[in-house]
Amino acid sequence: MKKRYIRHAAELVTCKGPAPKKGKDMADIGLIYDGGVLIHDDKIFAVGTTEELDKMVNMDEYEVIDASGKTVLPGFVDSHTHYIFGGYRANEFSWRLKGDTYMSIMERGGGINATVVPTKEATLEELVEVGKERMNRMLEFGVTTVEGKSGYGMDCETEIKQLRAMKKLDEIHPVDVVTTFLGPHSVLPQYKGKEREFIDMLLNDVMPIVKEENLAEFADIFCEKNVFEIEDSEYYLTKAKEMGFKLKVHADEIVSLGGAELAARTGAFSADHLLKASDEGIRQMAESGVISTLLPATAFCLKEPFAPARKMIDSGCAVALASDLNPGSCFTNNIPLLVALGCIYMGMSIEEVITALTINGAAAVDRADTIGSLEPGKKADIIFLKFPSIHYMPYHTTINLVETVIKNGETVYHKEW
Ligand code: NIG
Ligand code: FE
Repeated sequence: MKKRYIRHAAELVTCKGPAPKKGKDMADIGLIYDGGVLIHDDKIFAVGTTEELDKMVNMDEYEVIDASGKTVLPGFVDSHTHYIFGGYRANEFSWRLKGDTYMSIMERGGGINATVVPTKEATLEELVEVGKERMNRMLEFGVTTVEGKSGYGMDCETEIKQLRAMKKLDEIHPVDVVTTFLGPHSVLPQYKGKEREFIDMLLNDVMPIVKEENLAEFADIFCEKNVFEIEDSEYYLTKAKEMGFKLKVHADEIVSLGGAELAARTGAFSADHLLKASDEGIRQMAESGVISTLLPATAFCLKEPFAPARKMIDSGCAVALASDLNPGSCFTNNIPLLVALGCIYMGMSIEEVITALTINGAAAVDRADTIGSLEPGKKADIIFLKFPSIHYMPYHTTINLVETVIKNGETVYHKEW
């Protein structure tokens, strides 16, 4: 058995306790000063102060890792991305800077539909290659698990190709991948006005294959005015759930449509975006335990007001933060940017931001029993920051402080400064 002992962490963030953390519990990150972690093979064996752990171990049996002067945290979980796609849409960013809106670009054939052709044209190997590069960048930011969605094919072959690329990447890359089927991501011109027909095609022809080959665990939909309205979204989510998919919803991003309420009604794991979530939607998310996954880098890139994180937490919601990395609305996977936006613009404390990026992200992908916190029995997915306190995270604004990443007990990334 391989045994490693992380010792003398200036601040050890455990995030231990029941998950997800809701409301005021989000501020409790189980901080231990001068902390340590014992790793046995790929799992955490014990967590405590260095003094406590020193008494438990025979030091000769362990590879000792000195973490003095460092902050040690659970690996980050980026619980909402669209990182597998072909092509780029840099032109759209420039159009938006000149005053175009995300939806007006989408309505004239750009947006998500503009990524469909290059994604169809890409081979599986090309998607794996580009995905690997993007996952290497994620790892540098301390992300040890990522959720990735299909949704740039909207036909059987391409959707399945995207999901297969992610399955392959899950096998070959240290970062774990949780896959989500997002066939109803946009309406292709041939289906305009026939959204229900398109959804039925996905439900009948594509999703049984996805299920059979175990290519996706979650099903998601872009529930939005002029994309998939509430009725069609509810139909899709209900059927997807009957087929055994867990649910996620792109909800209340551009207009207040009742997406948060829909997520609560259908028993979704998360409602995502939520810039325009209603007070009633917030109340229902809190009550039903739907995780509010906020994507502030998207709001930032679209120059939209941020989701009301403070109100959500004060109302008892469990909030997660994720990057939404995608080719259109938000081409970044920069975790320190999420920290900055969360703390500076969304009224979150650094403790709440950490919870949102770790245990609540893990809960949003139904992995809270194995990742997201440093607790005995969980995967040894652990990151070290160069500096001794969590308070350096917002203070060193948008600077990546991740120095070391341990995944399943192995050091898979180390930065020499
Ligand atoms: O979460 N809003 C819908 N889907 C993505 C954007 C995808 C794209 O523009 O390519 C999002 O922001
Ligand atoms: Fe998204």
